[in-house]
Amino acid sequence: MNTIGVGLIGTGYMGKCHALAWNAVTPVFGDALRPRLVHLAEVSPELAAQKADEFGFAKATGDWRVLIADPDVAVVSITTPNQFHAEMAIAALEAGKHVWCEKPMAVSLADAERMAAAAQRSGTVAALGYNYIQNPAIRQIGALIAEGAIGVVNHVRLEMDEDFMADPAAQFYWKSQASSGYGALDDFGVHPLSLLTVLLGRVERVCATMAKPYPTRPTPGGGQRPVETWDIANVMLEIEGGISGILALNRAAWGRKGRLALQLFGSGGTIVYDQERMNEFSIYRADESTGTQGFTNVLMGPAHEPYQHFVPAPGHGLGFNDLKVIEAHEVLAAIAGRPARIIDFVGGLQIEQAVHAMAHSHHSGEWVTL
Ligand SMILES: NC(=O)c1ccc[n+]([C@@H]2O[C@H](COP(=O)([O-])OP(=O)(O)OC[C@H]3O[C@@H](n4cnc5c(N)ncnc54)[C@H](O)[C@@H]3O)[C@@H](O)[C@H]2O)c1
Repeated sequence: MNTIGVGLIGTGYMGKCHALAWNAVTPVFGDALRPRLVHLAEVSPELAAQKADEFGFAKATGDWRVLIADPDVAVVSITTPNQFHAEMAIAALEAGKHVWCEKPMAVSLADAERMAAAAQRSGTVAALGYNYIQNPAIRQIGALIAEGAIGVVNHVRLEMDEDFMADPAAQFYWKSQASSGYGALDDFGVHPLSLLTVLLGRVERVCATMAKPYPTRPTPGGGQRPVETWDIANVMLEIEGGISGILALNRAAWGRKGRLALQLFGSGGTIVYDQERMNEFSIYRADESTGTQGFTNVLMGPAHEPYQHFVPAPGHGLGFNDLKVIEAHEVLAAIAGRPARIIDFVGGLQIEQAVHAMAHSHHSGEWVTL
């Protein structure tokens, strides 16, 4: 089996997910290029050495530029905070590396444009961490839409809610800073927009408002600091094909732990999905006989690609980290020149354009056409 050298920058929440995925992808899928865990970068040489040992990487550095200059590294995972994505991704692409970069693509539209241009110049694979599009349930929903199982889709409702910012006593941190982006809009909004990208198509017009439930947050020194990001956003959408949509985002929604909910309404039925129940979806078909008409709950199993690579038994369920393993497999497929289900930097730029149009709409109070 051919191998490929992997570099990982950042080892927090997502860094660990990428490390797990690179470790698991060959045992799970078997047919992929086998990743060799070559080099890991963190903010200090000590942390890098500790994490390289834990995650199984051969070399460690406190300087990510050293990792990018390493000729043994062919693909770079970028899992650092948002404000570093552009500089790191562009440097990696200019060094001829493939890139797997976490979402959101960048903080500013100008940076996202520079990243997309660098990806086009490099000709290497530049994939974004839109893991939810990899869920077998989302793939199945896409297939059902394409075969007309709910007729012509005319309305979509998207929600993304979590409660990690719900506590007013939660401390000010990098996601409270404007340098990380707008807040819920780009931190969260890009995920439902990634589902729209694979299921329905492009967003054409938007009208948005954002809100700050807590205008200040405590600092470690015991003071209060003004919050620079918006934890709530509400957006009306017009999507290609004349589909109307609603997008509701909240990072301060007590009780919601990982809600990424989707309701698709069509001329012949409805499909309902929620990432908090990521191994199932429901479908209502208008052509069912009235005596048994109602939502049918569909549990994921080996019939739903690529579930069968993880477990042969239906209904046993995949988890969040499995989506990252599938994503790693798709990145490797793209590198090998095979068709791959990824949102690359050029596709990702369209998502960024939608997000910035929403922020513009919030400030102008008007609809914005993309
Ligand atoms: N795809 C998803 O579902 C998902 C979920 C959560 C976060 N994310 C994204 O992943 C990225 C990271 O988020 P996180 O929650 O893992 O953050 P985190 O704070 O847990 O981890 C970030 C890591 O990057 C390291 N780092 C910072 N600057 C660095 C530098 N210059 N060089 C090397 N390492 C550096 C930090 O030390 C830390 O270990 C963000 O862009 C975030 O939006 C994606």
